[in-house]
Amino acid sequence: MTDHILIERHGAVQVIRMNRPDKKNALTRAMYAAMAAALTEGDADPAVRVHVFLGLPGMFSAGNDLADFLAVATGGEGGNEVWDFLMTLAKSQKPMVSGVDGIAVGIGTTLNLHCDLTFATPRTVFRTPFVDLGLVPEAGSSLLVPQILGRQAAFAMLGLGEGLPAADAKAAGLIHAVVPEDELEAATLTAAETVATKPPQALKIARDLLRGSREDLVARIGEEAERFRERLQSDEARAAFVAFMNRKK
Ligand code: COA
Repeated sequence: MTDHILIERHGAVQVIRMNRPDKKNALTRAMYAAMAAALTEGDADPAVRVHVFLGLPGMFSAGNDLADFLAVATGGEGGNEVWDFLMTLAKSQKPMVSGVDGIAVGIGTTLNLHCDLTFATPRTVFRTPFVDLGLVPEAGSSLLVPQILGRQAAFAMLGLGEGLPAADAKAAGLIHAVVPEDELEAATLTAAETVATKPPQALKIARDLLRGSREDLVARIGEEAERFRERLQSDEARAAFVAFMNRKK
């Protein structure tokens, strides 16, 4: 159990809120587990018709907790929480809507690739500095980002770690809309409520058709995960994690 993930219900809308402000919503293993459980339970509950991901003002998520990564890099056990969450996300049975404000790093960006609608604010920049951390793309981003942005823009983002501002993400079709900060939650929840009013069976079939087979995506997430686990043990990654931990000293 963790109080860093809050689950709220608004009618047929299940809100999964990341709530760890002191660490900019960096995700711990317990947080991944709580989010995966919420998705699984919501998918199984006929009263839930749509999932919503939200963070806090100015911070959607700073990505995986780098202290957790450092623990693995220095011989600790990694657990399956991240993997379980990614699989649940890729295979979710119900539409997912996200509202992103400000910091969106690593999984804080790639999570949105699995959402059916993403709203973001003008100050949001999507960042995936995997290579700078000695790591590789995850969550199927090596497959999904080139499909959406084209290969070169995907390389700039996933290879060079260039940030993608919300306006550019909207222009490229990565997200649905850019809305002012003070309207983000209302816009996200209104969209989710609209989704929840649609005939659920027709919507499910339409969504399944739009998303297509999950086979390639699941295979790619597996391939990425294998490489990612290897990279976590690398000198490059260890040095990057230690540098982050020591940066204020
Ligand atoms: N893992 C663990 N702790 C993190 C974190 C992460 N991914 N991101 C931020 N934090 C912690 C910081 O260590 C700091 O903790 P402290 O106050 O105990 O020192 C706190 O959150 C606030 O972060 P800070 O860096 O002071 O805030 P900022 O507004 O100056 O910068 C970020 C925010 C997100 C730009 C910066 O923290 C950052 O680059 N984080 C790492 C992002 C990352 O590489 N994620 C992994 C992707 S795979």
